[in-house]
Amino acid sequence: MTIGIIGAGAIGTAFARTLARAGIKATISNSRGPESLQDLVRDLGPSIQSGGREEAARADIVFVAVNWTKLPAALAGLPEWSGRILIDANNPIEAPLFKPIDLKGRVSSEVVAGLVPGARVVKAFNHLRAELLAADPQAAGGRRVLFYSGDDSVAKAEVAALIDRIGFVGIDLGSLAVGGKLAQFPGGPLPNQNLIKVG
Ligand SMILES: NC(=O)c1ccc[n+]([C@@H]2O[C@H](COP(=O)([O-])OP(=O)(O)OC[C@H]3O[C@@H](n4cnc5c(N)ncnc54)[C@H](OP(=O)(O)O)[C@@H]3O)[C@@H](O)[C@H]2O)c1
Repeated sequence: MTIGIIGAGAIGTAFARTLARAGIKATISNSRGPESLQDLVRDLGPSIQSGGREEAARADIVFVAVNWTKLPAALAGLPEWSGRILIDANNPIEAPLFKPIDLKGRVSSEVVAGLVPGARVVKAFNHLRAELLAADPQAAGGRRVLFYSGDDSVAKAEVAALIDRIGFVGIDLGSLAVGGKLAQFPGGPLPNQNLIKVG
């Protein structure tokens, strides 16, 4: 299983750090190209390499963490998805104004899914601040919780296995329409809940 990351900012880097801690390989990309990521990948460690956006998008699991209004450009012109998994870690809100985006009644992951026909979209890794996502998931005598949701149970099982492998406890919230809404920021009740499962 290969992993690609589109977006090398706060959340893309936090995800890469959790992978690096577990020795899992991934290719991380941004809009400016692999050369701009040399210092970052040196810091992250040997399992993470930098690459182009298209290269990252060819992986079996493609983690996307890009500023909301830049998602259409970041996801344009990529290879056919053909059932590959896209992890949507994005929230429909953006610095510096932090004004919620009008989604016209849709859940944000459904909007993202509309940009990537043929991808199996799983919403995950969006409910914690980047510092907490990057931190050791073993904390306070238990393991930190991550939520995931999606409409394809096999894709969800693969993301659940990855969540477990990097040391978190995954909780399945159901479909994108239901679970995506619970974990969505702003609006859902789960964002910023730093939950630890004990035992
Ligand atoms: N920060 C948090 O604590 C947090 C928590 C949960 C969820 N989120 C969500 O995660 C997403 C990313 O947030 P962030 O804080 O990580 O943002 P960020 O630090 O501003 O990083 C954004 C990244 O997206 C890349 N990017 C922009 N346009 C691109 C394109 N066309 N192709 C490839 N890469 C592109 C940027 O690359 P360049 O710099 O090269 O342009 C940069 O690496 C957002 O949707 C946000 O709502 C953030």
